[in-house]
Amino acid sequence: MTQTAWLAGKIALVTGGASGIGAGIARVLAAAGARVAIGDLDGGAAVAVAGELPGTGARLGVRLDVTDRDSTDQAVTSVERELGSIDVLVNNAGISSIAPFLDISDADWERLMGVNLRGVLVVTQRVLPPMLRRRSGRIINISSMAGKEGLPNLAHYCATKFGVIGLTQSLAREVAADNVTVNAVCPGVVRTPLWDDPDTGILRQLDGEKGWRAFVSGIPLGRPQSAEDIGHACAYLASDAAANITGEALNVSGGQQMH
Ligand SMILES: NC(=O)c1ccc[n+]([C@@H]2O[C@H](COP(=O)([O-])OP(=O)(O)OC[C@H]3O[C@@H](n4cnc5c(N)ncnc54)[C@H](O)[C@@H]3O)[C@@H](O)[C@H]2O)c1
Repeated sequence: MTQTAWLAGKIALVTGGASGIGAGIARVLAAAGARVAIGDLDGGAAVAVAGELPGTGARLGVRLDVTDRDSTDQAVTSVERELGSIDVLVNNAGISSIAPFLDISDADWERLMGVNLRGVLVVTQRVLPPMLRRRSGRIINISSMAGKEGLPNLAHYCATKFGVIGLTQSLAREVAADNVTVNAVCPGVVRTPLWDDPDTGILRQLDGEKGWRAFVSGIPLGRPQSAEDIGHACAYLASDAAANITGEALNVSGGQQMH
């Protein structure tokens, strides 16, 4: 089977897929033959990005707030109605902020935990039961290099991303007997609005391009990752080729992290 047909007939939902890494993941899954739904807080952008996905398979953009169970239920129900049962869930929606440890507010902590960690719980609890009934499914959680190693001024973000890996391993063991695999992907650095947003981007607090170069300078392969690099890892984990892999946390970091 050619790589382009890897995911033929599969139905995938990518949360936070209207921007950055999620949009790249959606493009790669669609190019590999999947029917892809993008669920995002920004419903208009989800529809727009879904409309531009490559390939000929059906696609859908829906508003989905991963922190809200009703919004999640409505979005997943419309994916099931329009495209069919979800075979592949990519929990990608995530936010960040930079703050020295002593300045992390309760509101910041709750906001990051709510989207990055509880959001994975909420969406997975809605999508998983039909996978268990069908004894087939792939769950892929986007963690981070910051999910395996603490970084200064990112304690709240790192705590969420370490949590994603813990959740991934626990659930992987819990549902392995039902033939559902659960893995994480850990991107290194991908230049997205998470870095560049004028209001919330990390570079706003990090000396702009100098801060970016500092993050990129330690990458052994000498370049940042693209959103598609992360998408290729997800496509592999979603494919039959990865049927015997579960509980993994796969680095896509150009060698910046090796454990
Ligand atoms: N960019 C990087 O260098 C990098 C590195 C490691 C991990 N990550 C992780 O990758 C994921 C994607 O990050 P990105 O850089 O593409 O960010 P991004 O800001 O470009 O995209 C995030 C998307 O998530 C959506 N979103 C935010 N809150 C949401 C909610 N409550 N419900 C649904 N959607 C919501 C946003 O609307 C946006 O479309 C995040 O989990 C992030 O932590 C990013």
